Amino acid sequence: MTQPMIIDTDTASDDAVALVLALRDPRVDVRAITVVSGNVPVAMGVQNALYTRDLCGATVPVHVGADRPLLREHVFAHDVHGADGMGDVGLPLTGRVPAAGHAVDVLIDEARRHPGELTLVTLGPLTNLALALRKAPDLAGLYRRVVMMAGTADGSGNVTPAAEFNVYVDPEAADIVFRSGMPLEMVGWDVSRNDATLSPADADALAAVGPLGEFCTRIQRRLVEFCRTVTQLEGFDLPDPVTMAVAIDPDLVTRAEDRYVAVETAGVHTVGMTVVDHLGVTGRAPTVRVVRAVDRGRFLAMLRTACTG
Ligand code: RIB
Ligand code: CA
Repeated sequence: MTQPMIIDTDTASDDAVALVLALRDPRVDVRAITVVSGNVPVAMGVQNALYTRDLCGATVPVHVGADRPLLREHVFAHDVHGADGMGDVGLPLTGRVPAAGHAVDVLIDEARRHPGELTLVTLGPLTNLALALRKAPDLAGLYRRVVMMAGTADGSGNVTPAAEFNVYVDPEAADIVFRSGMPLEMVGWDVSRNDATLSPADADALAAVGPLGEFCTRIQRRLVEFCRTVTQLEGFDLPDPVTMAVAIDPDLVTRAEDRYVAVETAGVHTVGMTVVDHLGVTGRAPTVRVVRAVDRGRFLAMLRTACTG
């Protein structure tokens, strides 16, 4: 029994590896890929998604979504992923044609067509999903799972001391989603940092399994620099792929907690923070399953399996 899935992405170098994981895993039936502005402008994200899809020999429709956050100005991540978002390694990332239909309408229509069946995996800012919820409030009860690379559960951010990129870019959209009542699973940047960082030796081992492994490591060229100079990680971390791995195989999770989580939209120093109520001091019922740890060895094995052949 395959898991029907929709992937919402701001396709850059780590998103691309998450797409490879999903598109190559027989347990997953990717119904659509929807693209949102985030790491790179949405048109660039669409090309990066189409390139990666074609590389995997898939024909999944890729739809254009929101080209900016709900209220705020763009914040891109070219400093993290490169000018083209894919490590600036000279890939031919132009000229591919997306599917008709706006991403927001696809998120609504597919869920209404298959109520209670679909898993939605979000890998970028939550602008598309927030717009879909505003256009179709019934959406909150129509997805079976919503697995998000979003926020951080230990207060450490990668854009500011408090905020992770996807939530920082569009905190108002994240606030709408986190308050929606959807069946939310949050895989924060803390999990990526702790359990999904590949050392140079891990990267060499992945590259050695074949052309897809070489692709998944080569496009992290700019991310390696960002990790070395900013996040102080040796090698590179893979937040979106570990989120996708959790969506594909929930048994990967070794620790998770049901928590009430709020999104800060006004703080001078904390805007974009996912405020996790670890002690229950708000008295509010939990709204999110917060993943805290995964089986790193199993995650690395999933990457190698997806890239083999
Ligand atoms: O903070 C990491 C997240 O921001 C990942 O989704 C990465 O692709 C960027 O979008
Ligand atoms: Ca992303």
